[in-house]
Parts: sequence; structure tokens; C-alpha cells
Amino acid sequence: VHHNDTLLSALEQNILGVILIDELDKIIFFNSAAEELWGYRRDEVLGQNVSVLVPSSLRTAHPQYIQHNREGGQSRVEGMSRELLLERKDGSGLWTRFALSRFSASGKTGYLALVRDAS
Ligand code: HEM
Repeated sequence: VHHNDTLLSALEQNILGVILIDELDKIIFFNSAAEELWGYRRDEVLGQNVSVLVPSSLRTAHPQYIQHNREGGQSRVEGMSRELLLERKDGSGLWTRFALSRFSASGKTGYLALVRDAS
């Protein structure tokens, strides 16, 4: 019955940055590798909209990208499987590679991002 705890611990320990957002685009999981990549502690981002993780130049357009995907049929998300410039808390840039997937649980749809340093 503790599969969820096991899974969350496993994700926490991974060297990839792991970010989960819920059906309202709120950040519900942010592991220590993600803290290293962005320079934010998890308590600064948990419960916030995913936009806080998106570079300011993309912040206006990004919610529509997500909404468009929510309305589409594909659960395997092809977008973002390429190098993206991450903007860190201190304003510096970091080249990263993302793998993104959509999931549904209890009738609600969220997204999982796995991120690694590609610099
Ligand atoms: C789409 C950038 C973080 C979820 C996109 C797109 C860009 C982008 C440029 C448009 C699609 C493309 O050109 O590939 C970024 C950057 C991020 C970031 C620079 C942070 C450094 C996140 C996170 C999530 C997320 C943390 C969710 C956990 C999505 C979704 C789409 C999207 C669901 C739609 C993908 C599709 O329809 O193919 N993002 N993103 N993004 N992003 Fe992000």
C-alpha cells in the first residue's frame, strides 16, 4: 500500500530534475536535482503555477502551449524533447534537455518533466 511513497522517494533520489504539475498547472513535486538546476528551494515553488519555472521571455506564451496540449489527444508529448534555456533564480541561463509526458490520475491530467543539464 506504500507504492506512492516508494515512487516519490525513487523520483526524489534521481539525478534528473523531476517536476510534476497538476491539472491546474500547479507544481506538486520538485526534487533536489530540480532545486540544483533552478536554484529555487522546493518550498519556494511548490503550490505555485509552473510559470515560475519558465523563462520570462516565454511566460506569456507558455500557458497556451500547455492548454493546447491538454485539449489535444496525444499523451506522449513530443514538444520540448530538445535543448531549452532554463532561467535560474539568480538570472543566469543554463542549457538543459527536457523529456515531458502527460499523465492522468483520478480523472485529472498533469505533466511530468525530467530535466538534465546539457551545458
Ligand atoms: C511547451 C519551454 C518548463 C510543460 C513548451 C514550449 C516551449 C517550452 C518552448 C513549446 C513547445 C516546443 O517548442 O517544444 C519551456 C521552458 C521551461 C519549461 C524553457 C523551463 C525552463 C515546463 C515545465 C512543464 C512544462 C516544468 C511541466 C511540468 C509544457 C507543456 C507544453 C510545453 C505541457 C506543451 C507541449 C506540447 O504540446 O508539445 N515549453 N517549458 N514546461 N511545456 Fe514547457
